[in-house]
Amino acid sequence: MRGWILVERNEIKGWKFTGKNGEFRLPQPDRSSFLYFPLVNEGGMMSSITPKLHGQATSGHNTFLTPPLSVEDLHNSRASRNFWVYVEGKGAWSAAGNSAKQNADFYQDNADESELEAGLLWHRVTRSNKELGVSAEITSFVPCGEDKVELTKVVLTNTGAEKITLTSTAAIPLYARSADDLRDHRHVTSLLNRVYTSPFGIEVQPALSFDERGHRVNHTSYGVFGAEENGSGPVGFFPVQEEFIGEGGSLDWPEAVVLNSKPAIYSEAELEGYEALGGLRFAETVLNPGESHSYIIVLAIEGERIDVPVLMQKFGTAAAFDAKLEENKSFWNDKVNTVEFQTGEHDVDQWMKWVTLQPVLRRLYGNSFLPYHDYGRGGRGWRDLWQDCLALLIMEPEEVRSLLLNNYAGVRIDGSNATIIGSQPGEFIADRNNIPRVWMDHGAWPFLTTMLYLDQSGDLDFLLQEQIYFRDVFMNRAQKRDTSWDAEAGSSLRTASGEVYTGTILEHILLQNLVPFFNVGEHNNILLEGADWNDGLDMAADRGESVTFTSFYASNLLDIARLLRDLKERKGLSTVELAEEMTVLFDSLGEGVDYTSVSGKHEQLERYYAAAPNKVSGVRVALDIDKVAADLERKANWLFEHLRSNEWVQAEDGGGWFNGYYNNDGERVEGEFPGGVRMTLTGQVFPLLGHAAAPEQIPNIINAVEKNLLDDKIGYRLNSRFGGIQQNLGRAFGFAFGHKENGAMFSHMTVMYGNALYKRGYVKEGRKVLDSLYQLSADFATSRMYPGIPEYINEQGRGMYTYLTGSASWLLLTMVTEVFGVKGKLGDLLLQPKLVQEQFDNNGQAGIKTIFAGRELEVVYTSTNRSAYGEYQIQGVTLNGTPVVLQHSLEGVIIPRAVLNALSADKRHLLEVELA
Ligand code: G1P
Repeated sequence: MRGWILVERNEIKGWKFTGKNGEFRLPQPDRSSFLYFPLVNEGGMMSSITPKLHGQATSGHNTFLTPPLSVEDLHNSRASRNFWVYVEGKGAWSAAGNSAKQNADFYQDNADESELEAGLLWHRVTRSNKELGVSAEITSFVPCGEDKVELTKVVLTNTGAEKITLTSTAAIPLYARSADDLRDHRHVTSLLNRVYTSPFGIEVQPALSFDERGHRVNHTSYGVFGAEENGSGPVGFFPVQEEFIGEGGSLDWPEAVVLNSKPAIYSEAELEGYEALGGLRFAETVLNPGESHSYIIVLAIEGERIDVPVLMQKFGTAAAFDAKLEENKSFWNDKVNTVEFQTGEHDVDQWMKWVTLQPVLRRLYGNSFLPYHDYGRGGRGWRDLWQDCLALLIMEPEEVRSLLLNNYAGVRIDGSNATIIGSQPGEFIADRNNIPRVWMDHGAWPFLTTMLYLDQSGDLDFLLQEQIYFRDVFMNRAQKRDTSWDAEAGSSLRTASGEVYTGTILEHILLQNLVPFFNVGEHNNILLEGADWNDGLDMAADRGESVTFTSFYASNLLDIARLLRDLKERKGLSTVELAEEMTVLFDSLGEGVDYTSVSGKHEQLERYYAAAPNKVSGVRVALDIDKVAADLERKANWLFEHLRSNEWVQAEDGGGWFNGYYNNDGERVEGEFPGGVRMTLTGQVFPLLGHAAAPEQIPNIINAVEKNLLDDKIGYRLNSRFGGIQQNLGRAFGFAFGHKENGAMFSHMTVMYGNALYKRGYVKEGRKVLDSLYQLSADFATSRMYPGIPEYINEQGRGMYTYLTGSASWLLLTMVTEVFGVKGKLGDLLLQPKLVQEQFDNNGQAGIKTIFAGRELEVVYTSTNRSAYGEYQIQGVTLNGTPVVLQHSLEGVIIPRAVLNALSADKRHLLEVELA
């Protein structure tokens, strides 16, 4: 039997939104596993916290304050942020819920009751135990700003009828080193610890940072500090873990707490070696019924020894805590409320706030440092770099221009790109592991993001700005090594005379899209190389082809041609200046290549590689802009024709869909086979998203997706069940079916599918797709995740890899530009709403607040006669109450940028749009 036998469990109640800024409550959060919540700031503190205060706190791969962990450790490891209460006469209780006794009582009647409350970006758990007559309310957040600190306030309350005497002890393991040391000399590195106690707590500054290639003096310091509500510090310290837990003890039943032992250290002390602990013992306190007492705990990471009095003055009092919490809430509310939706679906609007936050989280955490993201060392890959910009263009538009410009410095002269991204903007690093690998999709994304930028801004000059190229040992798309290159030669492309070469952004874009055109496999589709968007298709580097990305590149070629014509019209440009070596890539300007000939394409590509062998002459040619555009159109149109006629899978029911891939044996991957249907969603998305799918093909594709990929339980699957491990395609098929890149509902591709359907005018169908994402994610009893969109929904319906996923950027973008139809058109504002009836509220209104042309706009659509999508049109628009003269285009109504530029940049402007 496949799958699991599901144990019948008690009905589980999900979260409910309680406020206007995404706040929600979840009863008994500790009855669901794998839950965690992000706490982070722009200063680089990256924490995660669970309902039982598990999780981690770090400022980078090499500077973990708490032990680094993976999602399984959230329930299996005993090392967590703990806060112990010893109730006189009754014994030890963990206010965080982490004790052997509470675990044992978990299924019994005397188990704790708990509730979670959270918002942008704060986390509160209330836990109470009837028998003991005590409750704890624990609020945690990472204050906005530059300090690498995490704050917690614990409020203990006597909920019983009798007076109680409590002794509190905070116990937070201070790992204080690199994640690498978890499996590389964990014990030896504990010997490097230098531990200092001072009036408010415990600090660890290891003597060296351990690296067998060369140990270096360590400066980073880590601390756990605390104070009571009256400002007094702990009365004693347990800085050494093994002494705290006692011989034979453990962090979830520590001797020092269970026996209420006295701490050995009361004052300033220095210790060496041992696994450290932020163990703070507070003075005994007596609470009458109903009375409360509170504590503030501060976790901190600093570049040098911590100035504790300054730190505690800033963060360590109840007043400071409360003020910082309010400041933090406003900071995140403001950030997220840059884009706001107001529809008839209130819960969806609130849920979208968490989705809107996600791209910012990805900017801050990269793809690492949350419990599911137990890989990477921070930073993001090339593909994610560009796609995360999509949302940033909407949320933080001022910063995007320079981001985009910098990113182009990673392009190689062969159209491929660097994949190791440095910490400075525009810094790309040669791969020292020397893995010759090219992800064939990488060249396609930059133009998509850049086009969005150009549409939003109208900044066509960006295309003519110059940027360097990246160079390392790999050339000819990693097919060859440049033996003349070494690290000292630097990673910028140079001319024959040794100067650093720069070319326009347009030149970079052309290279990225033209080189793949010639780099085809035996079926005349672009080679899959190392993999494409699906990182899991990584075992077909010789003969594999990505048909779906061939569609993407083809659409880019056509759109670039159109852009060139815009450049001519708007900027009066009659030629484009390009590196002379590139001329061969515009073959139709010369002899022309027979595009049906695979070898003909390869020969032309070789000519180009020979002309630009990891260096260029530095000479530029001016090519006629119309001829260049015509060459691109010729290529694009040839590809569309090829794809439509050769890569269409004819289904037995008369319908069909696009084949997405060829495997390493040169076999077509998709189709109806004796063993079952093999189909991928990716294969459909890119033909739909661009121009490759002909209008008459679209209904067939939609039918095939509904038939072969839609699963009532988990939504639109990334692929159907292929069976077998597909060693000629990729590791993804080694994953169990229904998980991650093998047949899960992979949000990123599903959102792009929805986006494509809206774009092609299939609004009802697109809405169904987007709605499925919301329904799956928000159904807590199955998804077991907090509000937001997960990377994927697994075979059990659980939301996986929460928070850090590119799908959030795409969903936000789709909501703004497609569903609400608020989008740029080379700088002008186009209104093209695709709202369906349910999205209008009781007054027939649906509104969005967003930034365009540097102005805060509130666009409110009013559907006067409640007609369905397709039946309504824009009847009238007013701007701040004054009617706007309508400029209709094929797609909708245009509001010229000049009109928006004339508005004040300091206040919000109201666009009221009547639909009937
Ligand atoms: C992740 C990666 C993305 C990759 C995808 C499929 O998606 O970040 O680059 O294309 O897996 O392999 P995400 O988590 O962003 O949704």
